[in-house]
Amino acid sequence: MAVLNKKPPASIIFIFGGSGDLNLRKLTPALYNLCIDDYLPEKFSVYGIGRSEYTNEQYHERLKDGIVNFSRRNEVDKNWDAFAQYLNYLKMDADDAEAYHVISTIVADKEKEWGIHPNVIFYMSVAPQLVPEIATNLGKLNICTDKRCVRIVVEKPFGHDLESAKELNAQLTSLFAEEQIYRIDHYLGKETVQNILAMRFANALFEPIWNRNYIEHVQITMAETVGLEGRAGYYDQSGALRDMLQNHILQLLCMVAMEAPVSFDANEIRNKKVDVLNAVRRFKNEDVHANAVRGQYSDGWMQGNKVVGYRKEKGVEPQSNTETFAAAKFYIDNWRWQGVPFYTRTGKYLHQKSTLITIQFKPAPHYAFPAEAAETWRPNRLTISIQPEMEIRLRFQAKKPGQTMVLNPVDMVFSYAESYDGHEPEAYETLLLDVMEGNATLFMRNDQVEAAWDIVTPILDAWTTRPAVDFPNYAPNSWGPEDAEALIARDGYNWVTLPLVVKED
Ligand code: BG6
Repeated sequence: MAVLNKKPPASIIFIFGGSGDLNLRKLTPALYNLCIDDYLPEKFSVYGIGRSEYTNEQYHERLKDGIVNFSRRNEVDKNWDAFAQYLNYLKMDADDAEAYHVISTIVADKEKEWGIHPNVIFYMSVAPQLVPEIATNLGKLNICTDKRCVRIVVEKPFGHDLESAKELNAQLTSLFAEEQIYRIDHYLGKETVQNILAMRFANALFEPIWNRNYIEHVQITMAETVGLEGRAGYYDQSGALRDMLQNHILQLLCMVAMEAPVSFDANEIRNKKVDVLNAVRRFKNEDVHANAVRGQYSDGWMQGNKVVGYRKEKGVEPQSNTETFAAAKFYIDNWRWQGVPFYTRTGKYLHQKSTLITIQFKPAPHYAFPAEAAETWRPNRLTISIQPEMEIRLRFQAKKPGQTMVLNPVDMVFSYAESYDGHEPEAYETLLLDVMEGNATLFMRNDQVEAAWDIVTPILDAWTTRPAVDFPNYAPNSWGPEDAEALIARDGYNWVTLPLVVKED
């Protein structure tokens, strides 16, 4: 979340997993976009680290393919040659502690060449089980004691449960200071997610009504139309609760529920967010069944293609108990939110790709209009669409033109596409720029990660000890299992989906 339009200081980025998917699809395309938009430091270098044998030229070709196939600007243009000069390939065995000295040499050489002490960023774009060893080896390098200029970026999943997250935190913080550790949750880098802060805290309009006196309930939906995408090895050990709810959904919940920060300081904002996580009511084991729903997709059809059920996916156990859908109802025990339910859900192979936050306001306290006027009367509702549509929509009642008093709900819409030129940066562009600038606001602190694991632990425990008896329980292209509808219908509401057709509440 750069505040000023200035270039970050001289930086060297070492990407462990340099020939891996994340680098090809996200990191290098993000750096290339930053280059085109003139955000890269004057002095800059990137080293992709891997075991495979590549010449620099071969490596460049591979990265170029990634840009063409996955960047928001899916072509390499006149900027490529200048950009390619920053990119280097370093063949290195990350298991070999001795090999790491080459990193110190590169940094010393660059410092001499540039005449300036650079930022050094280690990006862990590797399988999570490799992070501890790489971090340990890096921790032995003298350069890593420089708290101001050396940073380590760790991707999710951050641990597999509360205990492993604590272990990883303990290990990382024994090697690096907390302010050197940047834990990524890429949702926080999305434009529309950052805009939640702007909407809530740059306008005087919303804050006075942003509480239990006016808000009836909140919904957060993170629906995906994709399935496993060949990630069975990871996903079958993870599931929707760990993969999406523990991190992305709880982070959005924090954005909606946090108190107003006093400043834009990274720790101030993260303090406010962790307060929310600490206030989320923990489920007792016996509460899980009534408040959390799991699902797994069956055989079926997605967008005209036949797809196999989760248990038949390549690499998945035929009796797998892993959920591909998770929904949960949370309460936040504090003055602002007491009694307001937060309904959350996420799943694979759902009907529509949509990340949507819905703030449902309470009904007007008195209704003075004739009963006939009220046929389509609905309470106010604010929907914040994070993706793929990027918009904020406020629903209110209006008088339908004509001689009779008939009311109907209408929407006031702020659309990114209409208001701006449609070139929003991708999350990784924002996040990489922030790391270079040393701004940790959009990254997760150790206490946030642990509090989020603590929230989902009772659900994980209950689901592990009691395997699902009804899996598979939803068809691809649906909105998930029926129990998820029941979770919210029991309280008299329904899940909101886009386009916002007015349903009978
Ligand atoms: C990742 C999950 O963190 O987020 C994936 O591991 C998921 O399973 C992805 O598909 C969704 O991200 P986005 O930005 O495409 O909504």
